Amino acid sequence: MKRHLLLALSLAAGAAGAADHAAAPYKGDAAKGQPIASTVCAACHGPDGNSVAAANPKLAGQHPDYLFKQMRNFKAAEGGQPERVNAIMNGMIAPYTEEQMRDFAAYFASQKQTGEQAKNRETLEMGQKLYRAGDHAKGLPACAACHGPAGAGIPAQYPRIGGQFAEYIEAQLKAFRASGADPKDPAGRANDPNKMMRMVAVKMTDLEIKAVADYVAGLR
Ligand code: HEC
Ligand code: HEC
Repeated sequence: MKRHLLLALSLAAGAAGAADHAAAPYKGDAAKGQPIASTVCAACHGPDGNSVAAANPKLAGQHPDYLFKQMRNFKAAEGGQPERVNAIMNGMIAPYTEEQMRDFAAYFASQKQTGEQAKNRETLEMGQKLYRAGDHAKGLPACAACHGPAGAGIPAQYPRIGGQFAEYIEAQLKAFRASGADPKDPAGRANDPNKMMRMVAVKMTDLEIKAVADYVAGLR
């Protein structure tokens, strides 16, 4: 009797353990991601995720869940529109499975980001003020509230933006703004949960966008 009870208990525990294992999301394996990431993706993002051209964002040191989400958003579901539209990335990510995307994300996240410099002294103070405090009168929240005081982001939802190319940051803010103003704008970006970035960007002028982008590039 006692033995049967023990056996039943251990079987139940084993089954529960197996169920836990199946439910846990696959974290990705940097070593498995490396061969493709450091060759195919490297053509634009650099072998370690530090790209050299400002149009191609740095992926090094970015949070893996954010990287994975972007890859999924670039990949169109069977016949549908991708959530994040970019002709290059929509094509580049198409052949890969979700497991591979997790591996690429793990690989790039494990690399060290090389930062950028702020280049425009005249707008630095304006950029810093917007970043740290926002603009109360306009109802513009501080970037730091979501992206952290040094731009390192807050996993898993809020990406690292510190040290990213100013040109890329500017382009993304303008894309969020375009979608915020007109949801059908083909040049827009509308994959931010709860319109968090669209609501920020629609309140910003070109000058404010440029100033904050330049400031963020120099953050570390
Ligand atoms: C031919 C150039 C090119 C190649 C090759 C390429 N990418 Fe990209 N990637 C881009 C560009 C350009 C963007 C920015 C798109 C935009 O402006 O919205 C981007 C954006 C991304 C982003 C979003 C980053 C962010 O901060 O939101 C991820 C993730 C990404 N690429 C992963 C990959 C992976 C993984 C591969 C290899 C399978 C790859 N890319 C190959 C050009 C490229
Ligand atoms: C309420 C929270 C919140 C605030 C405030 C906020 N952001 Fe964001 N931001 C987000 C989230 C969430 C994302 C990721 C969207 C996604 O999943 O694609 C994001 C994405 C971004 C991106 C795209 C990063 C990439 O690699 O493509 C940039 C650039 C950015 N934010 C800049 C800013 C700046 C500059 C400010 C201040 C003017 C700001 N954000 C304020 C939540 C916020």
